[in-house]
Amino acid sequence: MENKTHLVDEITGHRRMRRNRKADWTRRLVQENRLTVDDLIWPIFLIPGTGILEPIPAMPGVNRMTVDKAVEAAKEAADLGIPALATFPNIEMELRDETGSNSLEKNNLINLATAAIKKAVPNIGVITDVALDPFTSHGHDGILRGNEIVNDETVEQVALAAVYQADAGADIIAPSEMMDGRIGAIRQALDAAGHQNVGIMSYATKFSSAFYGPYREAISTGGLLKGDKKTYYIDPANGTEAVRDATLDVEEGADMLMVKPGLPYLDICWRLKEAFGLPTFAYQVSGEYAMIKAAAANGWIDGERVMLETLLAFKRAGCDGILTYFAMDVAKHLARK
Ligand code: PBG
Repeated sequence: MENKTHLVDEITGHRRMRRNRKADWTRRLVQENRLTVDDLIWPIFLIPGTGILEPIPAMPGVNRMTVDKAVEAAKEAADLGIPALATFPNIEMELRDETGSNSLEKNNLINLATAAIKKAVPNIGVITDVALDPFTSHGHDGILRGNEIVNDETVEQVALAAVYQADAGADIIAPSEMMDGRIGAIRQALDAAGHQNVGIMSYATKFSSAFYGPYREAISTGGLLKGDKKTYYIDPANGTEAVRDATLDVEEGADMLMVKPGLPYLDICWRLKEAFGLPTFAYQVSGEYAMIKAAAANGWIDGERVMLETLLAFKRAGCDGILTYFAMDVAKHLARK
């Protein structure tokens, strides 16, 4: 025994990492990153009608909700201290068309929800997406002409949609459709409409990912999508290209950056934070949520601990916050502690 101890000492010298790990109090003292309720953005799904909460099978615990229910949810979230919501509409199929024209309706579902939430719960931030996928009959994020998702025409439309969203009270516009030039165009359009205080959180690096499956079920675009989104989302193989794409968004005036999906792209979170120092967020997407829920439901992992560990990992990777479907669960957990 003694000989072994000497051998370890010879190798480690005085360096023993375990001294700082020896008790709960030392571990608390040296903890580098912490998850707080201030780190959370809660994505919610909207449906038309009133008084309805509709479960989403592939996302256990997540409901689509009507505007009145979304207002209740916003109150609950604000009471727990969650800073902001991100809203995604699941609109009627009859309203979806080739160009996503419902995105330009002043009183469409997303704008009605924003106005109702901001009226009832002014202190919670509302972040809205301007991608066209909830509004198109083909499920693409932009306007489809022939076989092409046309860039510039889409940018013009999303910039206009952003103004309507800001008119309705949106605090931050989060364009996720990855068209070139969209950040600059949205900034110009917002400023021209007097919305200087409305920010832009760019989905700067959105990857062409298989992790979005359950979301497409949630807003009913899965069955509609023709082909894939590889001509506008980033190839999961490309990190340097992602940084270049984010550079353009920063130059065009993005106030905040987002990386999506989250956990498989922690390297990108780190690189963006290092490169720009902007507030940087990760979107822990539907597939990430579903995997944790499914494994936990089978008793294969401890769902709560895995949830907290993944969220802390985003903090360690340099993120300022996380869009997560776990937001309410986490906020409740943190409030109990
Ligand atoms: C599309 C959009 C996607 C998500 C939100 N907006 C991806 C897609 O359907 O291609 C994914 C969110 C999630 O998976 O949680 N603009």
